[in-house]
Amino acid sequence: MPSPGFQTVAHLSDLREGEGHVVQYAGVDVALFRLGEEVFAVENTCPHQGASLAEGWLEGDRVVCPWHAWCFELRTGRMTLGDYAQIATFEVEIEADQVALRGNATPLA
Ligand code: FES
Repeated sequence: MPSPGFQTVAHLSDLREGEGHVVQYAGVDVALFRLGEEVFAVENTCPHQGASLAEGWLEGDRVVCPWHAWCFELRTGRMTLGDYAQIATFEVEIEADQVALRGNATPLA
């Protein structure tokens, strides 16, 4: 059972290491990325021209957009080169095989 405010969105066992997995949460598409025993959740839609970041690739704990290679930190949502945009991140709770999220799609300032 997730903690208060968290909503279960996926099973940990369904997430493949380093591959994006899209879920619906808080009315938006959210990309989940599993790195070892950690899972990161970020807004799936690239703020540049709308590509699915879940179809991008990982460089360490960063996701690279598949269309024009804008790159975002999974922990903070910040762009790694330049400061043109930011993506929303969500709190992740893992309990047993349940992956739950909390937060909304408003990017951090
Ligand atoms: S759509 Fe993501 S970098 Fe252009």
